[in-house]
Amino acid sequence: MALTSVWRDRNPRPDPAEPAVSGQWDVIVVGAGITGLTTAALLSRAGRSVLVVEARRVGSGTTGGSTAKVSLLQGTQYSRISHRHPASVLRQYADANTEAMEWVTQFCDHHRVGLQRRPAYVYATSASGVRSIRSELDALHRAGLESATWVDEAPLPYPISGAVLMPDQRQVDPMELLDALAADATTHGAAIVEGARARRIHGHRPVHVETEAGHASAATVVVATNMPILDRGGFFARAKPARSYGLAFRTPTQAVDGMYLSADSPSRSLRDAPDDGGSLLLIGGNGHKPGASVSEQDRIDDLRSWTLRHFPAAQETHAWSAQDYVPHHGIPYVGPILPGTDDLLVAGGYSKWGMTNGVAAALALAGRILGGHQEWAAAFEPWSSRELSGLPDGIRVNAEVGIEMTTGWIRPLLRPGAGAPPAEGEGTVRLDHVGLPTATSRVAGVERRVSAACTHLGGVVRWNDAEKSWDCPLHGSRFGPEGDVLEGPATCGLRRLPTT
Ligand SMILES: Cc1cc2nc3c(=O)[nH]c(=O)nc-3n(C[C@H](O)[C@H](O)[C@H](O)COP(=O)(O)OP(=O)(O)OC[C@H]3O[C@@H](n4cnc5c(N)ncnc54)[C@H](O)[C@@H]3O)c2cc1C
Ligand code: FES
Repeated sequence: MALTSVWRDRNPRPDPAEPAVSGQWDVIVVGAGITGLTTAALLSRAGRSVLVVEARRVGSGTTGGSTAKVSLLQGTQYSRISHRHPASVLRQYADANTEAMEWVTQFCDHHRVGLQRRPAYVYATSASGVRSIRSELDALHRAGLESATWVDEAPLPYPISGAVLMPDQRQVDPMELLDALAADATTHGAAIVEGARARRIHGHRPVHVETEAGHASAATVVVATNMPILDRGGFFARAKPARSYGLAFRTPTQAVDGMYLSADSPSRSLRDAPDDGGSLLLIGGNGHKPGASVSEQDRIDDLRSWTLRHFPAAQETHAWSAQDYVPHHGIPYVGPILPGTDDLLVAGGYSKWGMTNGVAAALALAGRILGGHQEWAAAFEPWSSRELSGLPDGIRVNAEVGIEMTTGWIRPLLRPGAGAPPAEGEGTVRLDHVGLPTATSRVAGVERRVSAACTHLGGVVRWNDAEKSWDCPLHGSRFGPEGDVLEGPATCGLRRLPTT
């Protein structure tokens, strides 16, 4: 079964015309996910001329692979924030997400985008899980989210030790939402060019964006590529990439009433999705760092057998994977790429809660560009002293990145049998005759060789056996077997090498 999200399969994008990027604009938005398209819709409605450049297609990034719960209950996110930040920041975070959830609800109402209201649960299955969700409930109340309550039981087909419940949260089909946002932006005059990867962004008032499909400039550029593609600002060192899996199953009746997330590991996320008069069960989980020394295929198989154990009548329809970034200080970064550069803005680091945080980011960015003001936007400022609260975690993770950088270059020397050609569906990394790591893969009978040095900052890529891709363990860039960029901060593909 090809790895495709149920949403992308249900909402195929038409093939774009030959992409062509040119002209002068008020704002260029780089990236057509929830952040970029909401920003484009808000700014074009306000009369700004807006160009969106997208490397692949609308929704090719994380949004198109999201489980798309639009929820104020977010796992253990509030306790994580409250460990690092004062109560005022926690409240601002809740305010931002509340405003974003309302915005999405109204947008969906006005544009006939399907949105379902469901109770949300974060549940525990162990004593330590109970402690962590008790602490989450406290943090939710301190954030002003009083509707969160404790329940001992939840309607799930396996036992739990307790849960936090929040009524009346929302869920959507994220591709349906993105299509409506894109249509809204273009109706108000925005241009969206798909298949135009931005390779360089430079200059100051105007800012120039060079893409694979031409060049354009703007008074302001918003980099909405999830992890910023620019190294200025060092955002790649402030957040760690996290990859996880999604499965969709057809079920005879609606399998779960509500949106669920486990607090214990391995994580499990559940929700339903109406489908053609019937119902789908969506299961997510088994997350890990991309490029880690695990078999991605084993993770998917494990999630599949867990689902069938608890929902034996479920029939699998789709399997896929997606990636988000978790900032060390717990809060998204939304604002200038460097202090004082108000013409080059970034947004990201949503810790897998971008369906509200991405919209909040767009509201804050549009407010900044149009001269508006949201009280809560201060919590998302990327250059505040609060960023220091994430420093210990950041140092630890970057030390791990340093170790990975070194071992990545040594590993090909140590792997026994590294010289053997890869089997079908496999990839291996070994050193070539001048000591450079070379990645060789075999997919559908075709052997391909590319440089194994990631074009972002030189990490050594590893083979992903489920998605048949080369994944960089440092900051999450991913490449196809031919070396083309799939996602992450890299903007150039792996160098292709002749097969021997
Ligand atoms: C498995 C999983 C489940 C999730 N479930 C939920 C959930 O239930 N609820 C929730 O709130 N959040 C969830 N999230 C998180 C949420 O989906 C993301 O935070 C959000 O979609 C990020 O949106 P974005 O627009 O910032 O990035 P993306 O959607 O990744 O959009 C970025 C776009 O930029 C493009 N791009 C990249 N580089 C370039 C370039 N050089 N030039 C031009 N374009 C470029 C990409 O192709 C992409 O289309 C989940 C995340 C994961 C991984
Ligand atoms: S993603 Fe940064 S080095 Fe590969």
